[in-house]
Amino acid sequence: MGQCRAYEPADRAACIELLRRGHDPRFSEERFAWLHELGPGGPSCKVVVEAEGRIVGLYAVLPRPAHLDGRLITAGRDVDPVVDPDWRGKGLFTRMLDWMLASDSGVDVFYNFANPASAPGFRKRGWQEADRLADHVAQLGYRTLLGREGLLWAASRLARPPLGELPVRELSIDEVAGLSDPLPPPGRRFVVQRSAAYLAWRYGQSPLREYHSLARHDGDELVDMLVVRADPDVRRITLVDLSVYRADGGTFAAYLPYLAEQFGGCWVGVWSTVSASWRRGFVRSPRARGMPLLVRSDSGRDDLGRALGPGDCFVSHGDLEAN
Ligand SMILES: CC(C)(COP(=O)(O)OP(=O)(O)OC[C@H]1O[C@@H](n2cnc3c(N)ncnc32)[C@H](O)[C@@H]1OP(=O)(O)O)[C@@H](O)C(=O)NCCC(=O)NCCS
Repeated sequence: MGQCRAYEPADRAACIELLRRGHDPRFSEERFAWLHELGPGGPSCKVVVEAEGRIVGLYAVLPRPAHLDGRLITAGRDVDPVVDPDWRGKGLFTRMLDWMLASDSGVDVFYNFANPASAPGFRKRGWQEADRLADHVAQLGYRTLLGREGLLWAASRLARPPLGELPVRELSIDEVAGLSDPLPPPGRRFVVQRSAAYLAWRYGQSPLREYHSLARHDGDELVDMLVVRADPDVRRITLVDLSVYRADGGTFAAYLPYLAEQFGGCWVGVWSTVSASWRRGFVRSPRARGMPLLVRSDSGRDDLGRALGPGDCFVSHGDLEAN
């Protein structure tokens, strides 16, 4: 049976090959470097399993500064759990989780959006569902009024921005990298920080997708910044992150006229774990089941407050599609 050990730089090629074979054939070397080596929180913490002279398991955690109940902690986003298809169902993933929890990773609270393959393993080792990321939507324009788009468009009229809104413009990656820290979102116990370095790395340097960083200014003063993923071919816009820099900022609807002008009639989705005032006018899809947010504190960190529940965490679509 395989042995768990800390990842070493010499394992890099074997880990990329394992990820391609066991998870997604599109995972590139560039993605590995960006995600695991170049993040603003430093390299990911990684454990591998070695068996019969090769790497058959990998699990990693991206460290990120966060606040929990007002205390500065290190949060860890679980990423890339993978076991060689020939070695699955033998408990290797569970052993990698045990290894990470027992290791000196420096991570205080682990969190992820596990898929159905990995969720049972995380739950078995104590990760618990804190919340669900469910889309709230608005429709910009429609092709036929008598249909889903038309109905949603009619319902979305409530998302009209107030009159006299501030102008929106796209920021360059250099401008994003020079921003100050945003204000903490109100009323959330667990908030993973969105520093300028994080925003520039996550959205400006991602080798996987293109994002648009849009900002509202009042004169020279930045009010808020919205990160958008646009898929106009399928008429979809996902609002992936919002950073607020002034107390009166935080209105997704204020960006809708700009988005309609740039991308035309689209479905616009925003995540649910923000205060209702930010997503005012967006409609919750009654069929949306949502993605579970799983969280657990590190072994021996039971001091980190009571269990997190719905409405306690600030996470975004951008946190979800970290890879
Ligand atoms: C997810 C993955 C890493 C699990 O690895 P594994 O070594 O087979 O998992 P384990 O044997 O440690 O099983 C852990 C628990 O998960 C559950 N589990 C494992 N395989 C399962 C399956 N096929 N169906 C349902 N539950 C399963 C079981 O509850 C198991 O606990 P048990 O020992 O009480 O039965 C592996 O399936 C994999 O590489 N999948 C493809 C990559 C992927 O999707 N990664 C997740 C990205 S978020």
